[in-house]
Amino acid sequence: MTPPVSKRVRTRHFQNAKEQGIKITGLTSYDQLSAKIFDSAGIDFLLVGDSAGNNVLGYDTTLSVTVDELIPLTRAVATSVSRALVIADMPFGSYESGPKEALHTAVRFMKETHAHAVKLEGGVRSAEQIRRIVDSGIPVMAHIGFTPQSEHGLGGHIIQGRGEGLEQLMADALAVEEAGAFAVVLEMVPSESARLVTERLRIPTIGVGAGPHVDGQLLVWTDFAGFTNGRIPKFVKQYADLHTTLTDAVTRFRSDVADHSYPGPEHSYE
Ligand code: KIV
Repeated sequence: MTPPVSKRVRTRHFQNAKEQGIKITGLTSYDQLSAKIFDSAGIDFLLVGDSAGNNVLGYDTTLSVTVDELIPLTRAVATSVSRALVIADMPFGSYESGPKEALHTAVRFMKETHAHAVKLEGGVRSAEQIRRIVDSGIPVMAHIGFTPQSEHGLGGHIIQGRGEGLEQLMADALAVEEAGAFAVVLEMVPSESARLVTERLRIPTIGVGAGPHVDGQLLVWTDFAGFTNGRIPKFVKQYADLHTTLTDAVTRFRSDVADHSYPGPEHSYE
């Protein structure tokens, strides 16, 4: 994606990328070390997702995550990158009651974290909130299809936009574009539905479990790097096995200390 590795990614580059057929890449990040690695590798945007609930904070779902918990994580990521666009995820309960609450939360993220944009879930139902935030000068990434914050309302982790569900998916996509979102995440939707939405929209679509016919791809970093210990969704390609690497390292450390082979002279001061 444009721009070159030395320049800050802006929301307008997302639009350019779609128009030029250049794929956009995104990963979640919740801390300084991963943010620096992903930024240096040229990942276009980092999402400080409410998936921090499962991956950092030890919750079963994202529903318990609060704005106060995400603010320090988002600040750590935003202050660690020089190129990637950093997006703060607005957690459940921080925007649903209306545009005023949504703007209040978005302003907190922008002022207290140095993020460059916010993301919130919902299509038609969140359009007013998106419009209010965008009108205030804050870029919004929308998120439709399977929306984890509505897991219980949707009846579980169920693929959205299939069969008759395509009509709702398309209505949601058009509503968030109309409201001013600069991009939209499509989560867990069939490839063909994602293709139809991507062709219809002017703004780029970012797939997470939406197949290849979208304008960009987003993955949760602990899943793609094999750090997650547990079930990984079918759509994730695992590019590393950090869980095994770290388990091996910690097992060797423990055994070295137990048998007195660590620390040796090379790790000790005279
Ligand atoms: O919080 C998150 O990681 C997300 C992505 C899965 C889209 O919202």
